[in-house]
Parts: sequence; C-alpha cells; structure tokens
Amino acid sequence: MKITTVGTTPFSGQKPGTSGLRKKVRVFTQPGYLENFVQSIFDQLEGQQGKTLVLGGDGRYFNDVAIQIILRMAAAAGFGRVLVGRQGILSTPAASAVIRKQRAFGGIILSASHNPGGPDDDFGIKYNLGNGGPANETFTDAVFKRTQEISAYHLVEAADIDLGRLGETRIGEMIVCVIDPVADYLELLESLFDFAAIKKLLARPDFRMRFDAMHAVNGPYGHAILEQRLGAPLGTVVNGTPLPDFGGGHPDPNPVYAAELVSALADPTSGLSFGAASDGDGDRNMIVGRNFIVSPSDSLAVIAANYKLIPAYAKGLAGVARSMPTSCAVDRVAAELGIPCYETPTGWKYFGTLLDAGMATLCGEESAGTGSNHVREKDGLWAILYWLNILAVRNESVEQIVREHWRHFGRNVYSRHDYEGIASDLAATLFAELRQKLPTLPGTTFDGLRVKAADDFCYIDPVDGSRSEQQGVRILLDDGSRVVFRLSGTGTEGATLRVYLERYVADPARHEVPLQQALAPLVAIAEQVARIAAITGRNVPDVMS
Ligand code: G1P
Ligand code: ZN
Repeated sequence: MKITTVGTTPFSGQKPGTSGLRKKVRVFTQPGYLENFVQSIFDQLEGQQGKTLVLGGDGRYFNDVAIQIILRMAAAAGFGRVLVGRQGILSTPAASAVIRKQRAFGGIILSASHNPGGPDDDFGIKYNLGNGGPANETFTDAVFKRTQEISAYHLVEAADIDLGRLGETRIGEMIVCVIDPVADYLELLESLFDFAAIKKLLARPDFRMRFDAMHAVNGPYGHAILEQRLGAPLGTVVNGTPLPDFGGGHPDPNPVYAAELVSALADPTSGLSFGAASDGDGDRNMIVGRNFIVSPSDSLAVIAANYKLIPAYAKGLAGVARSMPTSCAVDRVAAELGIPCYETPTGWKYFGTLLDAGMATLCGEESAGTGSNHVREKDGLWAILYWLNILAVRNESVEQIVREHWRHFGRNVYSRHDYEGIASDLAATLFAELRQKLPTLPGTTFDGLRVKAADDFCYIDPVDGSRSEQQGVRILLDDGSRVVFRLSGTGTEGATLRVYLERYVADPARHEVPLQQALAPLVAIAEQVARIAAITGRNVPDVMS
C-alpha cells in the first residue's frame, strides 16, 4: 500500500469546543485545514491498526467531500475497515449506536449540529471513542496541541468511493463498507420501547402526529422508523429530505426555528395531537402537545418520572444526570425515587463516565438534549419514542401529563436568554468583572431576594477524578431560584452569552403565570450583577427559550 505524505503547516484556532471543532465552511475548505485536524486526531490514537472506524455526518454542505478525504487518510492511518453511512449519512446517535454494536475502535462524526449549513455557514467534526461517546477533554486537548505543531499528513491515493451503493470496496488494504444508516439504530430502539403499543397509538383515528425533520439528518430515520416500521401515515414526517443547507433554515428544534410546527399544533383545525422535531444531526429533540410546548428540562423530569412505563427502564434507574444550567426539575424526581442526581458541566461528553460506570441511566440538558445509557450521545428520536410510549400507556394528552407532573413535584419555571454575536473582548470583560464580584455577593439582597451562594462551577468527575473549572457562574438565591451565566462553546462567530433563569413554584395555583413575567425579578438581578446592557450595549436577548 503506497502512502503519500503531504507537508503542511499549522492553522491557528483548531481547538475543539463543547462538541468538536466547528468553523465556517470557508475555513474548513482552506487547503489542508480539514486534513491537519484529521491527522492530529489520528496522531493521538494508539492501536487502531486493522480496527474499524465509523464515519458519517448530518449531510450538510461539504459532508460528501470531507468523507472522501477522511477515507483516504484513514487508510494511511492503518484502519482495517471503515463503516460509512449510505450517502455519508449517520445521525449522531446512530453513529454512537453503530460504534457500540460493531465494536468499532472509534468514529468520526461530521456535523455542526443545529448550526446552519451551506457554503457560507458552518461545518464541524468530532471524534468519538469506542464507547460511542465524544472524546474527553484530555484527548481533545492533545489533538489541539498536535494541530499546533503538525508538519505533515498522510493519505492513500484512490478514486472517490460510490457512497450511494451498499457494500464493500477497498482503498489500499482498508475495506470501505457502505452501510444502511438506519438498521443498527432501529434495532436498538426496538429493544427499548414497546413498539406494538406505539404502533397502536399511531393507528388511532383520534391521534395524529407530525415529525418535523427540518431538512436534516433525521428525515430518513423518521421515514424508516415512524412511517415504515411503526405504521404512522405517510406525511407524518415533514421536511424529511436532508439538504446540504437545510433548506436555508436553522435546524434547531426550538419555538423560534420550529415555529411552523408549533403553530400547526396550536391550530385546532390541523387535528394534530403530538408534534416533535429534531436538529441537524438528530441528537436534539422538541416535544409539542396540542397548543403546549414542553420545556426540555421538564421533558427530562417527566421521562424520569415515567420510567416504569418503558420496557427497557422499568426495572429501575441507577441514577439521573443533568448539566448544571438545566433546571432542577429532575432533581425532585430523583429525590422521590431515592436515586442519585448528578450535576455536570454543559456538554454530553461529561455524561459518558457516569453512563459507562452504570451510575446514571438517563441524562439531559436544557438545550433539548435527552438520552440514556443505550448510546453515548443524546438522542432525538429516542426522546420522541419515549414520549410516544408514555402517551400510548397513559392515554392522556401531553399537556395533561406535564400539568399533572407539576402538581405532584411543583414547577421549575425556567428560561434561557441568549445574547448572540457579542464582541469576544466585551464578553471577556463581563466575565472578568462578574468573577471578581463573586466573593462579595453572598448575603446581598436584591429586591427582597437574598443571595445564598455565588460561585464559578467546578466539576470533579466522580468516576475518574478529572477536574473541569470555570464551567459557568452561578448565583443561588435563598428561595431556591438561580441565575447562571456562561459563554457558548459551540458558536463560530464572536461570543454568545447565555443567561439561565430558574425559579421554583410549588403552589399549583401559581403555575399559570406567564413564564417571562415570573422570571422578571431574576432578569433584573442578572442585569445588576453582570451589567449586560452597560458592557455589551444589549438591552434584550436575541433568543429566549
Ligand atoms: C450547546 C448547549 C449544550 C449542548 C451543546 C451541543 O452548547 O448549550 O447544552 O451540549 O450545544 O449540542 P454551548 O453553545 O452552550 O456551549
Ligand atoms: Zn445536535
């Protein structure tokens, strides 16, 4: 096998963020940029010779080109076999499922998740380990270090592989196997849920579902799983063909970007009773009832509280985990069940050790990510099937289920305010000031609300002892309310400030208060403490979710 070595020089800024390396397509398409990063990943691996690599992505612009390059480089890196999804498609949770089922050495997922795609938008790349989960910080730090000193990359010259045809071909000594992107994943989901009950629900004349795939990766999965396997009527899946630019949309399933779905569910003439959506790479989810949006933090809590209804989890949950900014709704469920609830930094990679150690069964984040120990990524269709399974057994509406949950556990009123595209230096100033103030805050009173504690979240992984510092500034108030500040680690331009606001309301008579109104006192505290308007010039957030 002839390996070609190409000399190169480092690019600055190849530092993986919350979820891999994400940059504009025009950055990724600079000659050598992708190659340098991929080679830096391969240079960190040990023992991959002859082993299997899983490769696929969300179908966004440049996905197809990048896959051909990575295949040639994987051959030079000594992999024995690459399993690549047909047309280069693999959703993030499906990639995780394939890595685990096929006992692969690892996987490369090409996605910038919910960020827009197209020649002027975003591309991304992430390495997952043999457990199916994102590589930890030690690995990604080492990759970054390597990118700063790289001087050559290696490939095996070969013609492009036909990714449309299932089956095996070769590049040098490496086998390239084009696989059905759905099969292993569907088999796994079938083993978790009561498909017969869901099938019956979907056949009922009084139950109508719509799944909005947002022109992203979950289109083919939705068609195969919901329509073909579970018998939902054709047309249940909308926007079901993955497009390189997601049809010009923003493939993020939230009330702003999935407004069409939300308004269809609010329209009584649509006849719809259940709506769902997922993001660019299929790991996020949105659950919508008739005229009722379920907040992701509540969804996690409802999922945990209803574990007994789901075949795979009915025997009991080992524990639950949520990212720090996620609302504490699931904590109350865990307390009642008498199981541990872990609080981790933002990003799915922190759940991996807990899942591998069997300490947590369900995990979730406020950013519309929910999942379990079945894979090592969050999983959009898993969450949707979980809800369908609950609905099939309980025979109540989405809204009834959530309201009943609040009556029992109380409501964690919650919202996230995002200030996008702030100049990075202003964001740095804001955080520097905020961090400096932290020691002076406890005991201070804002409009009758007393600060109990204020800190910068530091996480020590209970399994491997690794330490992650500066994971978000928390202001905890006496009445259990919280204000959390952090900077996004997934953006590709400027800085995005996220302010997370949470207030616990036990009394069911007060569950109806409009969300933003209930949180207004916390917004005022956020402003006083962090001086957002003064420093950034922004008076209102760009997105409230
Ligand atoms: C965001 C979310 C986070 C999620 C990540 C990847 O990261 O906040 O919960 O894990 O996307 O989907 P952020 O941009 O806040 O760093
Ligand atoms: Zn995603």
